[in-house]
Amino acid sequence: MLTPFMQRLRESIMPLHDEAEKVGPLHVIPDKTIRHEDYIKVLERLYGFVSVAEKVIGSQIDDRCVALDYPNRTRVKHLANDLVFLGRSEGSLEQLPCFDGVSRLTTLPDALGCLYLFEGSRLGGLVLSKALKEHFGFQNFQGYSYFASNGVDVPAMWASFKDFMENYVQTQGGGDEIIVAAKNGFASLNEWLAGA
Ligand code: HEM
Repeated sequence: MLTPFMQRLRESIMPLHDEAEKVGPLHVIPDKTIRHEDYIKVLERLYGFVSVAEKVIGSQIDDRCVALDYPNRTRVKHLANDLVFLGRSEGSLEQLPCFDGVSRLTTLPDALGCLYLFEGSRLGGLVLSKALKEHFGFQNFQGYSYFASNGVDVPAMWASFKDFMENYVQTQGGGDEIIVAAKNGFASLNEWLAGA
């Protein structure tokens, strides 16, 4: 059962989640109608968002977040591996357009609101990775390691993330700021992905 804060956070992003799930360029993955070149485009677009967001989040993480084990939660390396597997060169990844709005994440609660999106997206990622394996015949986490969280125990990662967030808000406050950052981050991500 969700705690009151996590429930509030979840409710605040759900309209934006519905948009990502039903309208954005990811919705053709569970439908298994996505074309190979469009899958690469969507990964490139995600790379341009996740690569900068992970750096900014990392710069805000401090001693209050030891329980998070943040380095272990970063996933841009999986996007890079997938793109290289799909034929992109490592050098080309540095030339990809990057989202420039993450400079708005100036506090730890801002960073945690954004991290919530990435951690929650692991859940949907499992649905997407199953569809990608079936649709493109991928295996051994090659080509779909980002969405599959490269095989980590997603329910355990999600449970520890929720515990961390609840404890953080109870001891440090900042819940309203986290919610605003999560909503703004999700709206920005949807807009950014629409350019895929
Ligand atoms: C086609 C795309 C997507 C599908 C199929 C999908 C599916 C899911 C599913 C099945 C869950 C868990 C079940 C639930 O609690 O309702 C979930 C949760 C979540 N997803 Fe997605 N998702 C998608 C895209 C995204 C994207 C792009 C993001 C943001 C980066 C995202 C963020 C989240 C978050 C934050 C949660 C956790 C909500 C909570 O319980 O607090 N999802 N998604």
